[in-house]
Amino acid sequence: MAESGPLLGHTLDLTIGPPAHGGSCVARHEGRAVFVRHTLPGERVRALVTEDRGGAFCFADAVEILAASLDRVVAPCRFAGPGACGGCDWQHVAGAAQRALKATVVRDQFTRLAHLDVTGLLAGVEELPGGLLGWRTRNIYAVDRTGAPGLRRHRSHEIVHVDACLLGAEHVGDAAALADSWPGLTGVEVARGDGVEVTLLAHRPGPGRQARGRRPPDRVDVVAGPQTLAHRVLDREFEVAAGGFWQVHPAAAETFARALLDTVAPRPGETVIDLYAGAGALTAALAGAVTATGHVISLESHPAAVADAQRNLADLPWVEVQRGRVEPAAIEALGVRPDVIVLDPPRAGAGRAVLEALLAQRPRVIGYVACDPAALARDVATATAQGWRLTALRAFDAFPMTHHVECVASLEPPA
Ligand SMILES: C[S@@+](CC[C@H](N)C(=O)[O-])C[C@H]1O[C@@H](n2cnc3c(N)ncnc32)[C@H](O)[C@@H]1O
Repeated sequence: MAESGPLLGHTLDLTIGPPAHGGSCVARHEGRAVFVRHTLPGERVRALVTEDRGGAFCFADAVEILAASLDRVVAPCRFAGPGACGGCDWQHVAGAAQRALKATVVRDQFTRLAHLDVTGLLAGVEELPGGLLGWRTRNIYAVDRTGAPGLRRHRSHEIVHVDACLLGAEHVGDAAALADSWPGLTGVEVARGDGVEVTLLAHRPGPGRQARGRRPPDRVDVVAGPQTLAHRVLDREFEVAAGGFWQVHPAAAETFARALLDTVAPRPGETVIDLYAGAGALTAALAGAVTATGHVISLESHPAAVADAQRNLADLPWVEVQRGRVEPAAIEALGVRPDVIVLDPPRAGAGRAVLEALLAQRPRVIGYVACDPAALARDVATATAQGWRLTALRAFDAFPMTHHVECVASLEPPA
């Protein structure tokens, strides 16, 4: 539980300002910032302060809407709202307005963290096919001490028991597992590929000591259903370990692969390095573009993902799948002069040391697929500090109803 500050538990009447990164909007109260969830810019709301540590800001939930935005809609899910399930941030917002909020956040992150005005580059956040609901092909339901599954409240370990998640695809959002009890588990995960068959994975407490309030990572095992799931991207079939990484929105992998190809335009005969390559979704697209006269090296640290990539790309002998962590020494050790470098790192981004090692390779273009615009903007700042230019930036609503947004960007070296 949060330490107590002066406003914790107070109710404030606030005028709501712009969206913040993370699914809230910013209001001001007596010189402090209040990050308010369940609201929209321009609204007047009564907000309950849910977390206040006494610093320059605190957190609140809009519990009464005094003057509503025209973009407000009735949340389709009965578990969304103040104090309820924390999985969604923008259920109360019309789809086009959700995308406009995300575009504002992306532009704002670049202004703050990269000191770049990207208004001319970023046309808006692009919609993926399929609508706002029923898109999640993977859900991890948390399990409480009694074994009952549900979803966590926002910034809390408390579990809200749900009988369905409207974001989930068929058999994921309405998973049979939600009606069962799972004593001894920390979570129950349901995943599917392009087919309707689902895999059920048990999350059990991992070995090791609890550090700074954090549990060690769960042990995750398949308990029912196929060990691998099939996904199709750009007319190629991928078999991926059911517990391994794959984009959660069914249209995401292909959308990002196409956007990446448009952005970095690999040419036949070129050498490409694909970093954080997972099971090979982007690697295959890049390999198709450089053709058999080219060379693609993928680097990925997770052993199961590397095994999947080796199997999935075995018919492309100009692809070299390597297992290892993306680190400056590892990049140098690849021993090639890449024309194109692609990276698709986890939320934290690549970081300064890796970025600088990539810039030192002097490819003609770097393509960056990013699930956190803040991390992307920080990494772009490392590049622009060395004279590189951000030459393309697109953003996609691959996570409707949530604050998450995916970006595809390119960087080109100084002349
Ligand atoms: C966002 S996923 C991208 C996967 C892939 N590009 C795709 O489109 O499906 C990030 C990947 O980076 C891998 N990863 C995380 N940290 C890494 C590191 N330090 N070195 C290499 N791979 C890493 C993860 O295992 C995961 O497969």
